[in-house]
Amino acid sequence: MQGLFISFEGIDGAGKSTHIDALSRAFEAQGRHVTLTREPGGTPLAEQLREMVLQAPMDAMTEALLVFAARRDHVQQVIRPALMRGDVVLCDRFSDASFAYQGAGRGFDWHMLETLEAWVQGGDAAGAAAQTLLQPDVTIWFDLPPAVAASRLAGARVPDKFESQPEAFFAQVAGGYAKRQQSAPERFARINANQTPDAVRHEVMQALRDRGWLTP
Ligand code: TMP
Repeated sequence: MQGLFISFEGIDGAGKSTHIDALSRAFEAQGRHVTLTREPGGTPLAEQLREMVLQAPMDAMTEALLVFAARRDHVQQVIRPALMRGDVVLCDRFSDASFAYQGAGRGFDWHMLETLEAWVQGGDAAGAAAQTLLQPDVTIWFDLPPAVAASRLAGARVPDKFESQPEAFFAQVAGGYAKRQQSAPERFARINANQTPDAVRHEVMQALRDRGWLTP
């Protein structure tokens, strides 16, 4: 069976997690083996890098280099092997988050991010840019107005470095996701996350049925 790579994106507070779990169960019910993972993270090394990125103050370039370093390890150790086995890989965030957060949110150079993406998601280091880029088969984008996300996040738990950013930061991040969607519209499934959890789940499942990846 062919591997399937699905990423989940959205600003903090968009409510991805419960839907990722539901989707995992739906694929397993169809007899698929699921690899459930996240970014930054997914390997011991990448989880250590995650702690640094989410907690330590640093400039935007350092942040970008660390999230892509974590991604490199994750792609090599977990994602590519799982896809080779024919798994469904459900990844809570992938490189669109770097464009949205480090690019649009923190103002790091977009083209530099594209270069890092080509290196990290290409093949081996030599001539990586010439190889096919590993990208999700579909990216489920939970789109939510930043004001709604802010009210959902308020008081939920101790915020990390990104969660404690002002609403204006998330407006920029949301703009970054929109820009990524415009550059690859066929890859993105935009979900209106400003609905009840049931309605959101229905849209997520429908997006996968429409692509023939989940049976009705
Ligand atoms: P999470 O809270 O959804 O697990 O995401 C972790 C945080 O890391 C979230 O605020 C977004 C941020 N992030 C980046 O800034 N760049 C990245 O490349 C990734 C994957 C996440």
